[in-house]
Amino acid sequence: MKTRITELFGIEHPIIQGGMHFVGFAELAAAVSNAGGLGMITGLTQRSPEDLAKEIAKCNELTDKPFGVNLTFLPTVSSPDYPGYIKAIIEGGVRIVETAGRSPEKYMPAMKEAGIKVIHKCTSVRHALKAQKIGCDAVSVDGFECGGHPGEDDIPNMILLPRAADELKIPFVASGGMADARSLVASLAMGADGMNMGTRFIATQEAPVHQNVKDAIVAASELDTRLVMRSLRNTERVMVNPAVERLLAKEQELGKDLKFEDIIEEVAGVYPKIMMEGDMDAGAWSCGMVAGLIHDIPTCEELVSTIMSDAEALIKERLSNFL
Ligand SMILES: Cc1cc2nc3c(=O)[nH]c(=O)nc-3n(C[C@H](O)[C@H](O)[C@H](O)COP(=O)(O)O)c2cc1C
Repeated sequence: MKTRITELFGIEHPIIQGGMHFVGFAELAAAVSNAGGLGMITGLTQRSPEDLAKEIAKCNELTDKPFGVNLTFLPTVSSPDYPGYIKAIIEGGVRIVETAGRSPEKYMPAMKEAGIKVIHKCTSVRHALKAQKIGCDAVSVDGFECGGHPGEDDIPNMILLPRAADELKIPFVASGGMADARSLVASLAMGADGMNMGTRFIATQEAPVHQNVKDAIVAASELDTRLVMRSLRNTERVMVNPAVERLLAKEQELGKDLKFEDIIEEVAGVYPKIMMEGDMDAGAWSCGMVAGLIHDIPTCEELVSTIMSDAEALIKERLSNFL
């Protein structure tokens, strides 16, 4: 399949693995890229630019296909060493960066000068237009369904994607709630040039996370996620568990008075415990509603090739039969 996204990134299939904290290591990024998609190392999971350089080198050992690095710009006061991470990306020979969170405007000149293609992930048409204006090559449009941070507008992809298509000139991929060939074909129909998946790629053989995480996603239904931290304007869609129930009870009790410190136990530093140790009740971890569509743990190659062959059949058979 050829779209503006496969052309832009030099990949075979228009499927991207979004950056995921404590999931997007070299093993997963390489497996997705080797399957013909675009794998993404999560920059900030690496504690320093030096560690990111090592992870990039590892990924270069595991694949000779293009892969990218996710750089999430956090709204924190003490900012990570973004120039250092960008230097590690450039020196590691990576030429694709997925930015997310705050606008990457400040860092665009450095990345563009190095010939890096930037895809910015955003949750609204206005942010997508801003990304286009500051020179991003593509955007990843994350709907309300998504695992992680869906923003504060709550617009699902059935509306958000056609709205993005009507406004944007640069290519975009659909993100949030994507799992299979139906997701891909529907995204293409709504004007996207491909799709980005997070949660679906966690439940794969190569995702270097504890088996408990994969089993929890397979066991979950579309009813098992919750939105937390809304009152802090830092909304996150997470898998429900006792820690999340506790967090929600505090949110309800404290209302507008809730401060980050009140919920620190449920959200800070919990990812290694969950993803590495499989302690599923250690805190709140991002997960999409799409868990309801995930029933197996295939290899990335099986997942991507099944999506592509099913998509072809969907287009050639089911859809063309309507005409
Ligand atoms: C466990 C997990 C961790 C994530 N961490 C990040 C992150 O660090 N940076 C980022 O830009 N997006 C992050 N995301 C969002 C994904 O890249 C992607 O946009 C999202 O999962 C898409 O929705 P889906 O899960 O329905 O496919 C994360 C998602 C999950 C499920």
